[in-house]
This record gives sequence, structure tokens and C-alpha cells, in this order.
Amino acid sequence: MVTAVAQRLASQRKEIDDTLAAFALSPTQLQEVKAKMRVELERGLKKDSHPTASVKMLPTYVYRTPDGTERGKYLALDLGGTNFRVLVVKIRTGMRNSVRMYNKIYAIPLEIMQGTGEELFDHIVQCISDFLDYMGMKNTRLPLGFTFSFPCNQTGIDKGDLVCWTKGFKATECEGYDVVDMLREAIKRRNEFDLDIVAIVNDTVGTMMTCAYEDPKCQIGLIAGTGSNVCYMEEMKNIEFVEGDEGQMCVNTEWGGFGANDNIEDIRTRYDREVDGGSLNPGKQRFEKMTSGMYLGEIVRRILIDLTKHGLLFRGRITERLKTKGIFETKFLSQIESDRLALLQVRSILQHLGLDSTCDDSIIVKEVCGAVSRRAAQLCGAGMAAVVDKIRENRGLDNLEITVGVDGTLYKLHPHFSTILKDTVRELAPNCKVDFILSEDGSGKGAALITAVIDKYLYAMRFSDETLRDIMARFRREMENGLGRDTNPTATVKMLPTFVRSIPDGSEKGDFIALDLGGSNFRILRVKVSHEKKQTVQMESQIYETPEDIIHGSGSRLFDHVAECLGDFMEKQKIKDKKLPIGFTFSFPCAHTKLDEAVLLTWTKRFKASGVEGMDVVKLLNKAIKKRGDYDADIMAVVNDTVGTMMTCGFDDQRCEVGIIIGTGTNACYMEELRHIDLVEGDEGRMCINTEWGAFGDDGTLEDIRTEFDREIDRGSPNPGKQLFEKMVSGMYMGELVRLILVKMAKEGLLFEGRITPELLTKGKIETKHVSAIEKSKEGLTKAEEILTRLGVEPSEDDCIAVQHVCAIVSFRSANLIAATLGAILTRLKDNKNTPRLRTTVGIDGSLYKMHPQYARRLHKTVRRLVPESDVRFLLSESGSGKGAAMVTAWASRKVHVFTIQQISILNKCAKN
Ligand code: G6P
Ligand code: G6P
Ligand code: BGC
Ligand code: BGC
Repeated sequence: MVTAVAQRLASQRKEIDDTLAAFALSPTQLQEVKAKMRVELERGLKKDSHPTASVKMLPTYVYRTPDGTERGKYLALDLGGTNFRVLVVKIRTGMRNSVRMYNKIYAIPLEIMQGTGEELFDHIVQCISDFLDYMGMKNTRLPLGFTFSFPCNQTGIDKGDLVCWTKGFKATECEGYDVVDMLREAIKRRNEFDLDIVAIVNDTVGTMMTCAYEDPKCQIGLIAGTGSNVCYMEEMKNIEFVEGDEGQMCVNTEWGGFGANDNIEDIRTRYDREVDGGSLNPGKQRFEKMTSGMYLGEIVRRILIDLTKHGLLFRGRITERLKTKGIFETKFLSQIESDRLALLQVRSILQHLGLDSTCDDSIIVKEVCGAVSRRAAQLCGAGMAAVVDKIRENRGLDNLEITVGVDGTLYKLHPHFSTILKDTVRELAPNCKVDFILSEDGSGKGAALITAVIDKYLYAMRFSDETLRDIMARFRREMENGLGRDTNPTATVKMLPTFVRSIPDGSEKGDFIALDLGGSNFRILRVKVSHEKKQTVQMESQIYETPEDIIHGSGSRLFDHVAECLGDFMEKQKIKDKKLPIGFTFSFPCAHTKLDEAVLLTWTKRFKASGVEGMDVVKLLNKAIKKRGDYDADIMAVVNDTVGTMMTCGFDDQRCEVGIIIGTGTNACYMEELRHIDLVEGDEGRMCINTEWGAFGDDGTLEDIRTEFDREIDRGSPNPGKQLFEKMVSGMYMGELVRLILVKMAKEGLLFEGRITPELLTKGKIETKHVSAIEKSKEGLTKAEEILTRLGVEPSEDDCIAVQHVCAIVSFRSANLIAATLGAILTRLKDNKNTPRLRTTVGIDGSLYKMHPQYARRLHKTVRRLVPESDVRFLLSESGSGKGAAMVTAWASRKVHVFTIQQISILNKCAKN
């Protein structure tokens, strides 16, 4: 009797062992899985084999992991795991661990998961609508990152055709269609709010990004949840079907499809085949069906049925419950396998599932669960070993240290899965030290981070008023440093005294010549100021070329050229025999000790003639004129273009006490109290200071707001490291900034379907005048199309809109930054005058300010916001700064000058020294 029972038990045991033996993989088998996975990874990457590969290796257009500088507020959707979630993610700048998230979970009923595509997306949009209401954010159009945990054929970061549904989804009319389009259309159908869908992101990618935000070594994302999948950073040159060889791109392996070409049939069991047959997508996702939460319970259930059939379980009774698909969810599997659970508790779980079990039954059930989940973890481990070894070989390393970011209910809830997975990776990839970190916040955060990475440079160009006020305060400090005797030598903003002490007072008269060098045109003018009943000015001017080779040649050649042009002009004016006083507008930073002595400190903008820096430009020009010997000249004053502009405008408006240029370069001058100018003797009256604000930031004070594009512009400029503020705002650089952003966006597949043409890559192909044209409100888009077509990129309508957007952000940033620095000057004037409200006029010139359709309005508005306690009149200098130079010359050349009392006192002081 005893032996009969023992024999029966032994035979039962054997039957159970035999059944489960198929799930025990030997080390050799695991090595084989790893090797086969490796072959499939390679096949997926190769152009020829990609179309038929079982592991699809889909490009994601994510080129890098976050670097911690991302910021902004984003909306994220997270669809495809156990939960559907809508989130808002706020990322504070410059700090890791500074992400705040608010989310709400919504149910997706089965009939919607498996209904029509339109119903599914309408449902999603309804949930978004509810969430926006809940957050009170209906009217804020936020950028959205969409975690969509299904295989998508991406052609850009915001374009992805669903390859096929997996897991529990089966909505009709979706496969083969662009998921972003479907979402956009559903938003349009609802017609209630608008969103910028910036990125579509697989959950593996979102998870990698989430974890990489905390650990920069994280370059792999793993999901072991309802489904199973991995992504990792692959070398671009290995991704044959994506253009470009530089850098890396994240590849979504979709390893769940592994086995589609029958190459793992040797390890698939009849239970795997049954589960596959009964699934929504038979024949597909074979590896996923052996490794992920949605199917492990099913495999267990099939085995249990089989064992019951053989009388080995549940007293041989196959109940309706046991026949019910899906009763074994991952969480039950995880609970049953928990070591902390006594058998009695296992029984009670089974009971809860409606399975009436004995104590022996629960032991067997636990064994079955263990065998199935162990195999799943080992298979994932083998797959992961293939991935890490591939990365190691990509990098030509003997040993690799890398981090995997992981998410998914199976990994998180199962008591042994993660340990077995890690052990397997260690055994199969001994040369790789692989750390696993759990993604705490799901992949929604990662989707937001991807959105932030893309939007980063544009976000980094938008400033709040708070930031602008901060920049204003920084510039005020710079001004003070430049004015102080001790601080001036090391100051970046040089605050150069100009020796111009007042604006025109209406008594000027005479016949003058003005040279105007340094803006987009080199101009020579004759300015006649007469004074019959009222003061009138007559001007004639001519523009002369300044060829590149002269600008970049030797200084003597440059000044010979200027002298030659001047000779030509005098010839034409028939004044070669006269010695007219000359005013020289020279639009570069010069140190003056008097009005007609100006030592060039440094070239800026396009100029780079040798042997001029450190020299007095008056002497150089005089020398060149003397060398010719065909005419005589009397250079009486050198003025900066800002000063010329202030004087020109001052002629019409006595209140003008600031001059700014927003043209090829940028700069400002203003009337400062002499008592604050340590470098010039005297305390009475005022003197015009040429701030040379273009150099603001040259000591690193603006690093937090400079973008990678600003740095690139600087690197490629004739004067790297100098004029950093100028390079962010002025006309010479604006088109280039836009071009660099467009190249970047095209590279990331965000524009022109990723097309990058040689023209687009050519420096200087987008100019400020193009930016101005594109931003015109009526014909802007047509202009954009024209300009982009000339660059050969075949823009779509969306591309044109996006490019217009980029232009607006770049030019807006410029206007904002100028508003901040000008704001600093205005508050200083106000403090100097000690008045509660400043009334003043700012004279302005420069091609950017004049030609750009929106610039002036934006600047004026922001200045008024930043300095509310002021009434500022902006006066455009209609006649350039040459007229102003003549005014200064008039003052300097007065034989009999009527000095004001203040001026006499200054002159006395100067004479004493
Ligand atoms: C993360 C993501 C989900 C993803 C899930 C996988 O939390 O936010 O979108 O699909 O992990 O886990 P699950 O087990 O829910 O499928
Ligand atoms: C004025 C002056 C130029 C000056 C220019 C700036 O018109 O006469 O000397 O440099 O403005 O503008 P631009 O856009 O030509 O650099
Ligand atoms: C999908 C993947 C996804 C994975 C994990 C699979 O079914 O095909 O895109 O990453 O599930 O959610
Ligand atoms: C120069 C300034 C000039 C400005 C505008 C800058 O590059 O340094 O002196 O005023 O351009 O032309």
C-alpha cells in the first residue's frame, strides 16, 4: 500500500518534473539564445536584412540622453502599459532631481482597446481634456510627449507609423498609420484645446531617458512588464537605413518579435505555442510571449490545466475558473512566488482565484510559476547579454560599465525576476559590469525629458521677465565696473569715455565731411549746416565698397583705401583744394584721450585688418592721406556710431541722451554724470559713454543663457571668445543662429523629413534679411518656402511654420536681451537724475531694428515692461550717424565757442591737469 502510494507519488513527481524540464534552460542553451539574439540585432540594423528581420531595430530619433540642463513644463501621455496615464511634468533648470509631476490614471475599457482607432483616440483626447480641466490648464498650449508602447516606424521624433498592435490592443484602422496624426486629428475633432505634439516615444526609450536623467551612464532601457522590450544607444554608422554616420541614436529593438523566423523553436514548448495560438496576434511577438507579464500567467494556466488533466492537480477537476483566460495576472504570479508567503497563503490566493487547492497543489503551482518566471528572467538576461556585448564591441572595449534603466510590473513586483536576470547577464556577459536602476516615475517623465531635449534650445531662448530683470541687474553691475577706476582694467564692458559732452544745441554750423565706417556700408558724406532763420542740414553721400580682402588685409591697405575713397569723394564734390573739417564715425571700440584721438582696442564684426589694434586710427588715416599728397584733411573728431546716432537724433529732440545700434553689430552710448566717470577728471556736467555692451558676457557672466548654437557661432567667428552678447543679438549673427538651429532640427528628423542639403550646411546661407522676410506677417510663409526651397530642402507647410517659429524665437530673444541692457542704462539715468519718473529719448539706428517687421515693437514693449517708471521715446535716426559725426565736428571746430558755465569749469580742470 505504502509502496503503491510512494510509486504513484514518484510517478506523479516525474510527470511534473518532465513537464517543467522543458522550461529549464541549460547554460549552453542560454549562450545560444544570446548568440541568436546578437545575430538578429545585426540583421535588424543592416539595410538588406532590416525589412525581414524579426528584431526590428527601429530608429527613435533620440540622439542623446538628457544632460540635466533641460527645463520647461510639458504634458505627457503614457499609453500601452498596465495603466494609461496623463501627466504634466515640470523640469526646473540646471538641477537634477528637480522634476515635479502630476498625473492621473485613466481606464481604457477593453471594448475601446479593441474597437476602432477613432474611438480609441477620441477616448484618449477625452482623458486629456479631463486632465487639463482638472489641472486648470485648458488654455496653456503645452508641448506634449507621447509615450506609446508599441512598435512604430519612426521617420522623425514626432512621426511614427504603428507597425502592429501588441499586448492587449487591437483597435482597427491604426496599423500602418501615423499615431501622431491620429492624435492630432482627434484633438481637432474635439475642437476644445490645442497641443504641440513634439515627440512620440517608446516606453523603453522613455525609461532610459528617465533613468539617464539621474545616471548619465544609463544608455539602455528595459521593460519587463505587460510586454517586453529593450532600447539602447547605437552608433549612427551602424544603423544603415538611417542617413548619417556621426554620433549615436537610440534604437528601439522590439526584441519581443525575436523568434518570428522560427529560430527559437527548439526552446519553445507546446504551452508557448498554445498561448501564442490563443493570443490576439498569433505567430507574432514570440519572445515577448515567453518573457512578459501578460503571458507568463497564461503559460502557467496552460500547464496547470495539463497537469490537472493528468490528475496531478486540483483533484483532476478542470473548473470554469481554470479555463478562464487571463486569471493569472503578473501580480498573482509574483505573490505566489514570494518566499515570505506561507503555503497557506498561497492556497488562499488560489482560493481567491477560484481554484480550490490542497496544500500539495499549492506547492506544485508555486513550482510551475517558478519554472516559467525563471525561464523568462533568464531569456531576458540572455537577450540583455547580447545587447551589452554589442555595445562593448561597438566601442572597442575589453570591459564595459553601463547602466540599464528598467521599468515594468514584472521586474518591479516579482520577487526573483530581477535577481535571476542580473545573474544571467553576469554569467553570459562577463566582460560587462551592468547596473540596473529602476525607473521610479515611469516613462512619462522620460517622454517629457525627450520633449525637453528637443525643445531645450528653443526654451533656452525664451526668457521670463524675471530672467530679464536679472540680466538687467548684471549689466548694471558691469557698467559700474567699467566706470570705476580700480575695476575698469578688468571690466568686460569697457564704458569708454567719448569726450562728447553735450548733444547739439542748435547753434552748430559749417561745411563738414563725415566718414562712416563699420556698419554694413562704408559711406562718405558732405554735411552742410546753415543757420539762416533756422538751422538746416543739407547732406550728400556716397557709398563705397569695402571688399573682404581689404577688411581682412593689412591696416595700411585699409586706410589707403579709405583715403582713396575720400579723395574720390572730394574730387566729385570739387572740394579737393579745401581743407574741410572731417568727422569720422568709426564703429569699433576705441579708447579716447580726446575727441580726435582714438586707439582701436579690438576689431569686431567682420573686420580684422592687421596692425591697427592698439593704434590711433586718426594717425593711421592722416598718414594714408599724407602719403597720397593730393588733398589735405583735418580730422577733428572720431565718434562711435552709437554716439553719431545719439547726436543725429539729438539734433531733432533735445531730450535724446541714449544712442543704440542694433545692426551688423550692437552697442549703446548714453550721457553719464562726469562725477561717476573715474577715468576722466572733473565732476561737473556730463560726458557720453560708449558702453561697448557687445562685450557683455566675455567674462562668463552670460554662460547660463548661452546655448550650444551661440557657442558654435562664436567658435566660427573671426573673434572667438569676444563680443559674446553681440553674437547673441546682432544682425551679423542672427541668420546664422537660425541656420544652425534648422540644421540641428533637421538632423533630429524634426524638419524637412530629415533632409540636410549642402546649402543648408553652408555658413552664411541664411541672412538676417531672410529672418526678417520670414517673419513678415502676411507673406512670411511664402518667403519661408522660397528661401528654404533655394536651400534645396523641399519644405512642407509644417516645415515653413516651424521655421517661422524658430526665426521668431531667435529675434525675440535678441529684442528681449537688448531690452534688458537698455533697461539697465535707463534705470541708471533715472538714478543719476534722482527722479521718480524718467522721461527720455533713445536714438536708434541699425539694419536689424529698421528692417525686421516685429523687432521694434517687441523691443519697445519689453523696455516699458522692464522699466515701468519711465516714458521712453524711441527715435529712429533717419540719416545715419554721419550727420551726428558732423555735429560733433562742428562743436570741435568752433573757432569761437560759447561755453556753458559747466563746460568752462571742466575745461579749467582739464587745463590744470
Ligand atoms: C512604465 C511606463 C509604461 C510602460 C510600463 C511597462 O511605467 O510608464 O508606459 O508601458 O512601464 O510596465 P507595465 O508592466 O505596466 O506594462
Ligand atoms: C548707422 C551708421 C553706421 C552704423 C549703422 C549700423 O546708419 O551710420 O555707421 O554702423 O547705423 O547699422 P548696420 O546695420 O549697417 O550695421
Ligand atoms: C511593444 C513594445 C513595448 C513593450 C513594453 C511590446 O509589446 O511592442 O513597443 O516597448 O511591449 O511595453
Ligand atoms: C562695435 C561697436 C559698434 C557696434 C555697432 C560693435 O561691434 O564694437 O563699437 O558701436 O558694433 O556698430
